[in-house]
Amino acid sequence: MSIKNCYNFEDFRNLAKNKLPSPIFHYIDGGSDDEITLKRNTDSFDECDLIPNVLANVGKPDLSTTIFGKKINLPVFLSPTAMQRLYHHEGDKASARAAEKFGTFYSMSSMANTTIEEISNISGGPKLFQLYVHKDKSITDDLIERSKRSGFDGMCLTVDTLVAGNRERDHRTGFTTPPKLTLQSLMSFALHPKWVFDYLTHAKFELANVAKKTDKGTNITTSVIKYVNEQYDPSMNWKDAEYIVKKWDGPFALKGVMSIEDAKRAIDIGCTAIMISNHGGRQLDGSRSPFDQLKAISDAVGDKLEIILDGGVRRGTHVLKALAAGAKACSFGRMFLFGLSVGGQEGVEKVLQNLHDEINRNMILMGCKNLSELNSSKLIYRK
Ligand code: FNR
Ligand code: LAC
Repeated sequence: MSIKNCYNFEDFRNLAKNKLPSPIFHYIDGGSDDEITLKRNTDSFDECDLIPNVLANVGKPDLSTTIFGKKINLPVFLSPTAMQRLYHHEGDKASARAAEKFGTFYSMSSMANTTIEEISNISGGPKLFQLYVHKDKSITDDLIERSKRSGFDGMCLTVDTLVAGNRERDHRTGFTTPPKLTLQSLMSFALHPKWVFDYLTHAKFELANVAKKTDKGTNITTSVIKYVNEQYDPSMNWKDAEYIVKKWDGPFALKGVMSIEDAKRAIDIGCTAIMISNHGGRQLDGSRSPFDQLKAISDAVGDKLEIILDGGVRRGTHVLKALAAGAKACSFGRMFLFGLSVGGQEGVEKVLQNLHDEINRNMILMGCKNLSELNSSKLIYRK
C-alpha cells in the first residue's frame, strides 16, 4: 500500500507499523497502564450523533476559525509531539512545512530535535511552542525568550506530565533516546535497514533546544520515562504557571486541563485558551476522555476562553462533533506522526488533506456554511 491509498487512521498506522522499528512504533502508538483511556478517547465520539439540516444552500463551506490570535484555514492542527527525528529524518521541519501549506498551526515540543530558530527560518505559518517545566528554571526562561524572539504565535504549558505515565510497551521494547541496540531491540532494527540507514546518514539525534543545558539532552542514552522523571519539576504549581503566562505575555493555553475548576483557574491566571487533553491516554490511565468532558467545560467557561480538544481525533466527523459541543478547534498527534513516519512532509500533507476533505464534505452534508453553525442543536447524546 502507498500513501496515496491511505484513506484513514488505520491505513497510516498499518503502514507505519511496517516501516518503523518496533520500539519506535510502540512509543508512538502506546498509552499508559491498560490503555483504557487511550481507547476511550476515540470511542467517546460514537456516543452522540450529528443532526443535519437539509436544503441549506451551503455551496462552499468556510472552514476557517481563529485561535491564538491567528486565523487558520482548518479547525484542526498538529499537537506538540516529541522527537520527530526518530520517525522521519526531516522531523519537525516536515511537519511545520505541511501545516503551513494547509494554513494551520504546527506545534513544537520542548523535546523537539529541531531548534526553535531553525523552524522559524523555514516556516512563516502559525506556530505554537509547548513548554515542559524543567527543574533547572533557566531552561524554562530560555525556551520562553527564544520562542518569543523567533515569532512563535502562542505558547502552551503541559500540565499533565509532572511524572511520566507508565508506558509498559516502552519497558518491554527497551525504547531509549537516542535509540540504543539492546538484545530486545536488535532484531527489530535489523529488520528495518532502510530506517537505520536514514537515521545514521542524517543530522545527529538530540533534544535540540535543551541539549546545551543538560547532558541528558544529547549524549546519554536514557528512556523517555527516566528523562521526564529526572528533568521535569513534579512540584510545578499555579504560581509557576502564572509566572510563565505573564512572562510569555501573549496567547497562552494550559494543555491537559480536564476539570471545570481548573478551567476557571486558567482564566484567573490570564490564559486565553485551554487544551482539554489527557495527553492521548499516555499519562493517567482511567481518566475521562476529553470529548466526554468537553460540553460541561464549554458550558461553564466557553465564552471566556478558547477551548481546544486534543485526543482521540481520527475523523472529520469527530472534529464536527467537538465543535458542536463547544470546541473552537481540535488538535491531534498520532495520526500525523504515522503520516510523517511513512512519507515525511508528503505523509503529513496527506493526513491533513484527508481531514480537510472529510470536514468539507461533512459540513455540506450537515447543511452548515461556517463553523459557528455547529452548535449543541446539531448534536444528540444517546442514553
Ligand atoms: C505526545 N504528546 C506530547 N504532548 C506534549 O505536550 N509534549 C510532548 O512532547 C508530547 N510528545 C508526544 C509524543 C508522542 C509520540 C505522542 C503520541 C504524543 C501528546 C500530544 O500532544 C497529544 O496530546 C496527543 O497525541 C493527542 O492524542 P492523539 O491525537 O494522539 O490521540
Ligand atoms: C510523551 C511525552 C514526551 O508523551 O510527552 O511521550
